[in-house]
Amino acid sequence: MTGVKGVQMKKEDLKRLLEDMSLEEKIGQLVQLPGFLIEGGSVITGPALEMGFDEETLYNAGATLSIFSFEQIKEIQDQFMARQPHHIPLLFMGDIINGYRSVYPIPLGQGCSFDPELVKELSAMSAKESSAEGLHVTFSPMVDLVRDARWGRVMESTGEDTYLNSCFARAAVEGYQGKDIADAGNVAACVKHFAAYGAPEAGRDYNTVELSERTLMDDYMPAYQAAVDAGVEMVMTSFNTLNRIPATGNSDYMRTLLRDTWGFHGMLISDWAAVNELELQGIANDMAESADLAIHAGVDMDMCTPVYASSLKKLVADGKVSETLIDESCMRVLELKNKLGLFEDPYHHAEQADPKEVLLCNEHRQLCLKAAEESIVLLKNKRDILPLAKEGLNIAFIGPYAEAHRLYGVWSMLGREEDTVSVKEGVEMIAQGNTCTFAKGCRMLDPKYPLCGFRGMEKEEETDDEELLLDAMMKAKRADVVVMLLGEHPAQSGEGGSRGDIRIPKPQRKLLKEIAKVNSNIVTVLFHGRPLDIRGVDRRSKAVLAAWFPGIEGGNAVARILFGESDPSGRLAMSFPYSVGQVPVHYDHFATGRPFNGDISNRFQSRYQDIPNEPLYPFGHGLTYTTFDYTSVELSDDVMTKEKPVTVLARIKNIGNREGTEVVQMYIRDLKGSVTRPVKKLKGFERVTLKPGEEKTVRFRIDRDMLAFTGADMKFSAEPGEFYVYVGASSACDRHVSFTLKD
Ligand code: GLC
Repeated sequence: MTGVKGVQMKKEDLKRLLEDMSLEEKIGQLVQLPGFLIEGGSVITGPALEMGFDEETLYNAGATLSIFSFEQIKEIQDQFMARQPHHIPLLFMGDIINGYRSVYPIPLGQGCSFDPELVKELSAMSAKESSAEGLHVTFSPMVDLVRDARWGRVMESTGEDTYLNSCFARAAVEGYQGKDIADAGNVAACVKHFAAYGAPEAGRDYNTVELSERTLMDDYMPAYQAAVDAGVEMVMTSFNTLNRIPATGNSDYMRTLLRDTWGFHGMLISDWAAVNELELQGIANDMAESADLAIHAGVDMDMCTPVYASSLKKLVADGKVSETLIDESCMRVLELKNKLGLFEDPYHHAEQADPKEVLLCNEHRQLCLKAAEESIVLLKNKRDILPLAKEGLNIAFIGPYAEAHRLYGVWSMLGREEDTVSVKEGVEMIAQGNTCTFAKGCRMLDPKYPLCGFRGMEKEEETDDEELLLDAMMKAKRADVVVMLLGEHPAQSGEGGSRGDIRIPKPQRKLLKEIAKVNSNIVTVLFHGRPLDIRGVDRRSKAVLAAWFPGIEGGNAVARILFGESDPSGRLAMSFPYSVGQVPVHYDHFATGRPFNGDISNRFQSRYQDIPNEPLYPFGHGLTYTTFDYTSVELSDDVMTKEKPVTVLARIKNIGNREGTEVVQMYIRDLKGSVTRPVKKLKGFERVTLKPGEEKTVRFRIDRDMLAFTGADMKFSAEPGEFYVYVGASSACDRHVSFTLKD
């Protein structure tokens, strides 16, 4: 099916349609209905407001979301088009952020792959499966830069770095949208949450964002702009404020920056109920004022509330909102439908598709496995305890994730346990030569903290904790090696998933402590949606693997890496803090006037008295089963001009005895600027796979544009002066060469 061309109406036909529509119809196109209003039940991802939709508005609506089956979509599309005065098709949208049925790692795990090409393939696969079931739009990629592991939605981001997020944003949009969204197998992408939702105060979801304009523009905005430059069809507003004006009512960014400066001509949709929440945020007195603010800010569609539906008509009649504004927004909605070819084929080729051919097909499973393997980060491997031998060992696999099948993130709308390979199943596929035992060991969660998930309270089966512990201890005592499989519950991250204590749940901490008393040969594999405070885990483990929520092939990926069938190649896209007290912590911080020099007898420096400044594991960190040596790092020239960029040449060699993949990272430091400059900024990376003894020269081009920032004059430009260039295996690399930028 992929690639079958769609047919679009001519622009003048669209114009005639708009001219022929009544004001009620045009306002109706600006309304998105929650799926549960029009079919039995869907995931409620936002406040379930008392819906004040009347019948007319219902049938004039422009879109709906969270309906995930072609039969239902077809039935609803036919019903609505028959009732709609001009038979205008609905847009069907949904949160497919890490795969449809072939569920792959959460975006933060994808970020650890440092492999944008992989994410492009994954997004294309997700689009193929979603569109085969009738979906038109996915609310992805989320490109919010994240530095605060308390925030549950870090799992949806590709991490703390501006450049890395921009690379992934572009890749995802290209993957989802393909060459033409009218073609079968493609969907429209929606970049979110615009903007800077990843910086909520105190890491608490939906909270205020307070950023300097320079930090906003230089660190947070580039990834959204990368998505816009890649041709993303939709943008979603964020819940938070920007300079104290909620994004959904903020013309400075939604119109002036997004449309006038960046040239975005696509559709802007609010986040769930965000138009209605302008009142709660204290910048509107009532729904009418909220609608007035949002439509003037350029928000084309009101997600899942009746604010536009109940207010815009009167605002036009009262002369507060010109009908031209309604026409502009309505035209953007019609243009998206036309770009998808929906006026010709309201099912977007899904009627001809055979989902059984694409959903969970072997090719897709293999891609999910590859992604899961590339997302896993080997944080620690003392005395090379890993990889484990495939025979002759007694290995005890202990923890709530030893046999679990829910290895996918909380947003995995169509993820199914029956589609997922558990660690036990993965291990039994590989390590038949070993004696492997399995034990749950403890409950997943601390019963003192009941957990509410996306679909209500998360219930954990009753457990005999004593019995579980006894069984685990017995197996651990007999084992040569213990593999602990621990982590967060999937619903402990994602929307509404902020946590003040970012350790693994208490029952699991207790279990690890008890096991460590009887066996010190411990490897720990973590399943999680955020960087965790793992000091206790790290202290008691000889090796630690960060597996994130790896998706349906998670069990196979973990087993293959544990036994060396596959080499770990992931690198942290977000720092693991030493403790939550450090948060927000990120590698590209400023030097301050009193950088800590290690001398603790000098009180008056920028440091803590009780913990280090550095994270436990920094951005870019990740080990392999071999060793790489950076034999040389040179520059093509030590002077750069506007006309003459410089090239960095880094020679690396695999000096170990196994093949491995290094993610060579290139950082730049601007030693002095008209404003303070970060101690490092990632400006290039390359995955390099080398056999033992093999070496390669990796080249990075540095030009003047890469050195630009928002200076004291608020202009985005590079400033002459000295620059350091670091090339290494993580943001902690300290060996550098330098060049001077002339005017
Ligand atoms: C939610 C989320 C957003 C999601 C939308 C639709 O509140 O903030 O990321 O796309 O609603 O489910």
